[in-house]
Amino acid sequence: MPAIDLSLTLPEGHPRALQLHNPVMIASGTFGADGYGDGLPPTANFQGLGAVVAKTTTLLPRAGNPQPRMAQGWGWMLNSIGLANPGIDAVLRDKAPQWATWRVPVVLSIAGERASDFAQLASMIEGVPGVAAIEVNVSCPNIEGGLEFAQSRDLAAEVTARVKERTTLPVIVKLSPNVTDIVAVARAVEDAGADALTLVNTLIGMTIDQDTARPVLGAKRGGVSGPALKPVALAAVFRVYEAVRVPIIGVGGVTTGEDALEFLMAGATAVQVGTANFADPQASWQVLRDLTGLLRRRRVAALCECVGIAHDSPAKTRPAPATIPATLR
Ligand SMILES: Cc1cc2nc3c(=O)[nH]c(=O)nc-3n(C[C@H](O)[C@H](O)[C@H](O)COP(=O)(O)O)c2cc1C
Repeated sequence: MPAIDLSLTLPEGHPRALQLHNPVMIASGTFGADGYGDGLPPTANFQGLGAVVAKTTTLLPRAGNPQPRMAQGWGWMLNSIGLANPGIDAVLRDKAPQWATWRVPVVLSIAGERASDFAQLASMIEGVPGVAAIEVNVSCPNIEGGLEFAQSRDLAAEVTARVKERTTLPVIVKLSPNVTDIVAVARAVEDAGADALTLVNTLIGMTIDQDTARPVLGAKRGGVSGPALKPVALAAVFRVYEAVRVPIIGVGGVTTGEDALEFLMAGATAVQVGTANFADPQASWQVLRDLTGLLRRRRVAALCECVGIAHDSPAKTRPAPATIPATLR
């Protein structure tokens, strides 16, 4: 049986593009107990994956939201971690040196309370060995306006442009499904210079304890992830694929190789596995093995053969680079 070429360059043409051995990554916040790989068993095999996205890191340490922060039900998980993290200084000092010795590229996710925080974080990361790319998490409130960055085309674009100014690394912007028109946000972020998009972050949700008649989560609301999120994420990837030219990384409920293949068919170049890692630390590796088997059975020789094939006209539906001013869309 001929070998399948699962490797990819993300994005093509970028001077410091990510060189991935395969298209399966670990999603931000789901890499070990702390999101930075803590407590993973040696069997987790994460070094054989395409990439690992570390926990979203902020300028200052954050304690996160009140407990309880996790709940689960049939096909879904809710979390209200609230971006708890030790802050950028500690991450660059204590984690990045180790990442520099790994075979797997590590993408560092960043978030801030104002656009200037994102710019400062990007400057601090520049030149640090061990960080292969930046994932910009815009699903956090902008304290200067209240709205989440991800919910405004202009704010999301501003953050993207500010990060791009300060880094030579690939900049991947992770969008939120909690918007009316994710396509408009994706276009604005692409126009602002994003090198790739990750779709999607968690969907707002809640659950109530019927005995106490109170919301289960300390923060009352949280983010829905897991299989229940998959159809939402898939539709986002499908729609955005027809509107932008930059590569898309699909995330939301990927638990099996079949899930990953659906994302590729919708137009994702790579996928991330999140919640499934909590049930089984080898889940991402298993997704990769299943996906490889599926592609082999379909006699696929290279990954790019399946990207976007769910579209009526996979290549033609993608428009020429946008020339329409963002304000007219
Ligand atoms: C416990 C938990 C923590 C998360 N933390 C982050 C985070 O720090 N930054 C981020 O961008 N996404 C975070 N996410 C969202 C995931 O990266 C992913 O987008 C989402 O869970 C959907 O994928 P899944 O259904 O495979 O989990 C977190 C998700 C979970 C479940």
